Amino acid sequence: MKKFKGRRIVLAVTGGIAAYKACALASKLAQSGAGVRAVMTHTATRLVGPLTLQALTNHPVVAGDEGGVAAHGMEHIELAQWGEILVVVPCTAHMLGMLAHGLGGDVVSTLSLAFRGPQVLCPAMNPHMWQKPAVRRNVKTLRGDGFIVVEPETGPTACGEEGEGRLPAEERLIEIIAQHLP
Ligand SMILES: Cc1cc2nc3c(=O)[nH]c(=O)nc-3n(C[C@H](O)[C@H](O)[C@H](O)COP(=O)(O)O)c2cc1C
Repeated sequence: MKKFKGRRIVLAVTGGIAAYKACALASKLAQSGAGVRAVMTHTATRLVGPLTLQALTNHPVVAGDEGGVAAHGMEHIELAQWGEILVVVPCTAHMLGMLAHGLGGDVVSTLSLAFRGPQVLCPAMNPHMWQKPAVRRNVKTLRGDGFIVVEPETGPTACGEEGEGRLPAEERLIEIIAQHLP
């Protein structure tokens, strides 16, 4: 955990059911001395309150509105300049598709386009979604483009199925972030 002291981590949260786990991760990283700034898609704000992430990180949260854009303006560019690493937890199938196609239709995808450092995507979804050819293609494209796409774990998922699609445990995510911090 020593590695995180003074480091600048941008945590992007998208609209998967595992969004609540991003709160515990934010808390752990902030407690370890990292500066953590959170960004949320509009869907993520329906699943987890921005105020929770704001309180855990001690920084205002940049959240997309219904049109996808940030409420105030150019924070995504400021955050892209500030962050040393961008971590998307959880990363939806929708966001994988946006990023694989270079789309900047909302605050998280625009931030990703503007971001110069390493980008770690942590997908979590229903096992059938994860196996869909379109999702496999997007993952392959993203890896080819230099994104770090973390393999989801196998086990019971929130949707009541069993298979590959679970967000890895917090300790594992912390290890991966430490490994990829520049
Ligand atoms: C309750 C609920 C849970 C969801 N969980 C997931 C999920 O775990 N993974 C996923 O890829 N999509 C999930 N979705 C679908 C996404 O929310 C949907 O694709 C949305 O457009 C994603 O938007 P975003 O990527 O901009 O956050 C869920 C939707 C709902 C309503």
